[in-house]
Amino acid sequence: MRLQIKDLWVEFHTFDGVVKAVNGVTLDVAEGEILGIVGESGSGKSVATHAILGLVPMPPGKISKGEILFEGENLLTKSEEELNKIRGRSIGMIFQEPMTSLNPVFTIGDQIVEALKIHFPHLNKLEAKQRAVDALKQVGIPSPESRFDCYPHELSGGMRQRAMIAISLVCDPKLLIADEPTTALDVTIQAQILDIINDLREKRKLSVILITHDLAIISETADKVAVMYAGRVVESGPVEEIFSNPKHPYTKGLLKCIPHVDEQSRPKGERLNTIEGTVPDLRSLPPGCAFYNRCSRKIDSCLDKVPYFINCGAEHFVSCINVE
Ligand SMILES: Nc1ncnc2c1ncn2[C@@H]1O[C@H](COP(=O)(O)OP(=O)(O)OP(=O)(O)O)[C@@H](O)[C@H]1O
Ligand SMILES: [Mg+2]
Repeated sequence: MRLQIKDLWVEFHTFDGVVKAVNGVTLDVAEGEILGIVGESGSGKSVATHAILGLVPMPPGKISKGEILFEGENLLTKSEEELNKIRGRSIGMIFQEPMTSLNPVFTIGDQIVEALKIHFPHLNKLEAKQRAVDALKQVGIPSPESRFDCYPHELSGGMRQRAMIAISLVCDPKLLIADEPTTALDVTIQAQILDIINDLREKRKLSVILITHDLAIISETADKVAVMYAGRVVESGPVEEIFSNPKHPYTKGLLKCIPHVDEQSRPKGERLNTIEGTVPDLRSLPPGCAFYNRCSRKIDSCLDKVPYFINCGAEHFVSCINVE
């Protein structure tokens, strides 16, 4: 399995203008690899990954340029019928709003069986149930046989999230796209769910795109990270490298925003760092670097054009013309 997004551009034609949501994004995920995507709200994380499965609503959306190669084939040229064979089968997705993705009027078990039957219609009732129960067990749901008959409202938030993951994994996909899979959960459950994802990567060579606001999650789980800002990847590379040697002023700012429980250096009561300013209006992006107005290292030539990627070490790329 290999997924390559190459120079992807997505825009939304709205009454208020053209929203440039994704502007030349290039990403690469290998087999058994976890790619983390971070960036502020509105930076294009969800839209870029929705494009993989043909889930950008068109109109108002439009993919104006790019290629998305999955195992060598361009998903952007596939028909709806062909995409339906891939969705949930080769590529699983956990959506950002899990509570609204489960149907309240069907039991958890029925919903998993439904997902399974789309791709494995030959399975009989008993076989399908067995696979659904196995999927629930795999995501750490206790007494999965009895949970099979529960409705979503009968489960806790953490259990519902696990059920969502079970649905996305029941067909044994090669790639899982997990959009903020743990945001609504407390830290213990969060850690358990990340463990499950990590475990599947090791046992099944599952590849994962993990979207999160939380850099601490990336540092613990991902192999590589792409930092997005205003619809662009501004820095990418191996996780240890980006965390120990960040180059882009935005990445540096994000890293300074991470709270450390054991942090001795910050006097009590002192506020955590935040990055001043806001993301630019995606309807009127400047010709140069989109981070310019918030950047501590800005120079005049940053205004001229979007900075090229500079290679600053093994697989470490940054889009900035004034790195330290
Ligand atoms: N259907 C749509 N119509 C118009 N604009 C849209 C649509 N969907 C997304 N956008 C815009 O595209 C931009 C990128 O949105 P996206 O959801 O990818 O951000 P995100 O990085 O996932 O943010 P968050 O962290 O809040 O989930 C935003 O400005 C958003 O308003
Ligand atoms: Mg999102």
